[in-house]
Parts: sequence; C-alpha cells; structure tokens
Amino acid sequence: MSTPTMRAVSQPAFGGPEVLEPVRVPRPEPLPTEVLVRVRAAGVNPVDWKTRSGGGMAGVLGQPPFILGWDVSGVVEEVGFGVTTWKPGDEVYGMPWFPRAAGAYAEYVTAPSRQFARKPATLDHEHAAAVPLAALTAWQALTDTADVRPGQRVLIHAGAGGVGHLAVQFARHLGAQVVTTARAAKHEWLRKLGAEETIDYTTTRFEDAVADVDVVIDLVGDGHDATSTRSLKVLRPGGLLVAVPSGVSPELAERAEAAGVRATAFLVEPDAPALARIAGLIDQGDVTVEVEDVLPLEQAAEAHRRGEEGRTRGKLVLTV
Ligand SMILES: NC(=O)c1ccc[n+]([C@@H]2O[C@H](COP(=O)([O-])OP(=O)(O)OC[C@H]3O[C@@H](n4cnc5c(N)ncnc54)[C@H](OP(=O)(O)O)[C@@H]3O)[C@@H](O)[C@H]2O)c1
Repeated sequence: MSTPTMRAVSQPAFGGPEVLEPVRVPRPEPLPTEVLVRVRAAGVNPVDWKTRSGGGMAGVLGQPPFILGWDVSGVVEEVGFGVTTWKPGDEVYGMPWFPRAAGAYAEYVTAPSRQFARKPATLDHEHAAAVPLAALTAWQALTDTADVRPGQRVLIHAGAGGVGHLAVQFARHLGAQVVTTARAAKHEWLRKLGAEETIDYTTTRFEDAVADVDVVIDLVGDGHDATSTRSLKVLRPGGLLVAVPSGVSPELAERAEAAGVRATAFLVEPDAPALARIAGLIDQGDVTVEVEDVLPLEQAAEAHRRGEEGRTRGKLVLTV
C-alpha cells in the first residue's frame, strides 16, 4: 500500500517569502502517546519568518527543507497507542514541539497528546489558531516569569501585536495597571482591551511618559531603537524587564545591575494546562482574540510578507 500524502508548504532553502512553496509530503503517523491532528488553521508568528530566513529557530530545525508553523487548531484524526485523553473528532489547539519543528503549515501534524488543549468553544478554528504561541508567551511571561500581582504597574511594548494585545488583556485580568505603546490609531482599541494608559511611540519617547513600573514586557527588543535598554529607566528599584524578542546581552545585564533592576530573557514553551486556562478566559468573554486576516495555506508567502512589515493588528492566520 502506498503511503498517504498531504498538502504542505515547505522551503528548499533559507531566504525571503518566495522560498515558501506548496508541496506534497508523506502524511505523518502518530507514535505511542501522540495524536494525529487534521490542521484546520495555522497561526503565523514572527518566529516563522525569522526561521524561514535563517534566524529564529533555524539552529534547532537545521538545514531546509522543513515545514514551518507551530500554532495549530484542528481536529483529532487518530490517536497513538496509550492515548486516553483524546478521541477522533475532538477539537484541539496547541503549540506542539516548540522550539523543535511542528510543521503546522500542513494538512496534518503529529505531536505528544498532552501538548494540546481543548479548543476554546466560542472560537472558530481561524481564531483558535491565532492563540497558542502568542497567548502562551504573554501568559507565561506575566505569570511564571514576572509573577504579576494586583495593583502592579505593567508596561507592555507593542501592545497592538499578536502577543501584545493578549498581554494587555491578561495583565488587566491579573489586576495590574496596564500601560502600553502603539500607534495612536490603535489606542482606542487597546483601551477597550484594558490599557489604562497608551503611549504613541512614534511621537513620544516612552521614558518621558511613564515611570515607577514594576514589570516591562518588551515585545520590540534591542534591535529596534534599543527598547529594552531604554526600558531600564522606567522601572522602579527591583523591577523586572522581560526582554522577549532579543534576550539579555551582557551589556544590558550590566546596565540593569547598575540601575538596580532585573532583566531576563524568555522563551515560550508548550503548556497545555495554561492553554486550557486561556480557553476558559476566552470562553468566559474575559479575553478577545484579534485576527487581522485569514489567508489560504498556499498564500503563506503573502502572509509572511505582510507580517514582516511589523504593523499587524493582532494576528495573521492560514486556513488549511
Ligand atoms: N521569546 C519568545 O518566546 C517569543 C514568543 C513570541 C514572540 N516573540 C517575539 O516578540 C516580538 C513580538 O511578537 P508578536 O507576535 O507580537 O509580533 P507582531 O504581531 O508582528 O507585532 C506587530 C506589532 O508591533 C507593533 N510595533 C512595532 N514596532 C513597535 C515599537 N517600536 N513600539 C511599539 N509597538 C511596535 C506594531 O504596532 P503599530 O502598528 O502600532 O506600530 C504591530 O501592531 C517578535 O519579535 C517575536 O519574534 C518572542
């Protein structure tokens, strides 16, 4: 019997969006404790285009060809030996395998069953696929890393992006006072999501507008206008900078120490219990998910081109 194949988007080499091409590849089979999930939608994240061009997680994935994508929303098609928590037909979402390859830009993925959670019941697959990587980043950074407490002041850079718009809502849910940076056109929306103060970073230096912050979640990084380094000035003594995109260089660590504040790198991890909790917040109406646009899988290159411009409001998603 011939091996069944599936549609996917792969890349034969590192490069620009044009290296992404539709292919047919063998359909994966679930090993014991894994599930085979029929992907209905795949979220697109900056790590996808960074990896595509040789940065991001390219060091983990190795040389192309490989299939990008970590955010999955779909339906369990088959369960491997030993899986008792899912059955065919269950709707699940997750960010499996990260930072190893998950291959979400495809019709099927296999992954450890416990890296998935039940899809939020109130979301369609397109919105659910926008959630895992961005929401886990926001949630893990605010709770596990920063241990944000009610009444604390939290500054979120790039509040309008995929991670940012969820971080604003989670921080508010945790009882924090939220300050965020974005272009003026997005301020009204971010205030509805729970930001108390919004700073237009295109006209105002944020360090002139905010002080005494307990936690900074930097989603811009030191590659752009030294946002992490500049953020050290707005922290109260002992406050924490979570440098999400670019980590903490020895120079940044030194400056943080001299300023009497803390700075930490961060990398998101698969976390089904957190995804289950996040699904609860979404289904209760406490958190909304913004999807800027949905494109067919075959237009992955176009999704990358748009995402890479860095102006996305919420998320871009591929339907499979
Ligand atoms: N370490 C990890 O585990 C991890 C996990 C997830 C993401 N990340 C990284 O975190 C970053 C954010 O990810 P994302 O998915 O949220 O990206 P994204 O959705 O592509 O972010 C786009 C948003 O960034 C805003 N923005 C751009 N420059 C800005 C600036 N200087 N100040 C304030 N806002 C600015 C834009 O808002 P305006 O249009 O208003 O400018 C836009 O809404 C990426 O670099 C990503 O790779 C790291």
